[in-house]
Amino acid sequence: MNRVLYSLIKSYLNDEDKYVSGEAIGDELSVTRAAVWKQVEGLKAKGYGIDASPKKGHRITALPEKTIIPELITLFMEEILHGKSIPEIIYREEIGSTNTYAKERLLRDGKSEFIVITDHQVKGRGRLERVWNNEKGEDIALTIVSAPMIPSAMFYRFTMNSSLAVYHAISKSITGVNIKWPNDLYVGKRKICGILSEMVTEENLIRNMIIGIGINVNSIRDEEKSVSMRSIAGRKFDRNRIAAEIIAGYLTYNELLKTDAFAEIYSDWKEHLAWLGTEVSIDTGNETIRGILRDVSPEGVVTLEIDGAPRTFYSGDLMGTTSGR
Ligand code: BTN
Repeated sequence: MNRVLYSLIKSYLNDEDKYVSGEAIGDELSVTRAAVWKQVEGLKAKGYGIDASPKKGHRITALPEKTIIPELITLFMEEILHGKSIPEIIYREEIGSTNTYAKERLLRDGKSEFIVITDHQVKGRGRLERVWNNEKGEDIALTIVSAPMIPSAMFYRFTMNSSLAVYHAISKSITGVNIKWPNDLYVGKRKICGILSEMVTEENLIRNMIIGIGINVNSIRDEEKSVSMRSIAGRKFDRNRIAAEIIAGYLTYNELLKTDAFAEIYSDWKEHLAWLGTEVSIDTGNETIRGILRDVSPEGVVTLEIDGAPRTFYSGDLMGTTSGR
């Protein structure tokens, strides 16, 4: 982001009444005043509110609501991460799937740490070959790619880190969110976020972790099996800020993944796990079994107590059996 836009956005966020003169913008960008005018018009077309005063210059009065703005996400992340490096954010107005795009990019140019985000995902993928639908300009669809080079047995820790990051980011605005094993977030029995974790391995190491996150944010969804933040809270949310908080949280947790501090992340994650200690049913694809959800290990292995004996599951669809949403 150019420094002028950065300082205009920052002063808007800090509630300062700061104008930047067309001349200063021109100097910064080494362009003529006519070119500055063109840039300002471009920003207006993107949805920025801009107040232009002949004497004082330009001032931002509103940020675009309908679009993801990677510069803004970077700025919010800078505020949270205080000087830590921030991966490149690739924004596409429309994309098939952010996860598929990320994987293609990994193959194409070898860059291994980046984020892909879109306003309109038209071929969103879910777990088990399912389809994931987002609403254009309303929801969040993003993918975070990292290059951890850690043992592939630690795969599930990334899912934990991402679901916990989503949990904390959205729980600031809505209540009743829980993490549903293996990688969803639910409000009661309704899904609000799905996570698709994929990896590229090299021998026994994870070369790339590809975490795709889809959240129902500003779409109106009030269905039996899915719900959105907007439908719960009755208002819209700033997707750029939520995305920044999720990415920053996930990257911060990842730094602790190989350390003793992961124990804290794990216990925080378990505290927000849905249905722990209550009766659940698990659909393994072959059978549906009921039992008490006793534990999920850091490796993501579930233990159910069935007829008084523990039984472990490595995959499946889990759901609480108690009534109510
Ligand atoms: C699931 O619930 O089965 C997982 C859904 C994951 C959806 C996200 S949206 C961003 C990323 N790109 C995709 O194609 N899928 C994930």
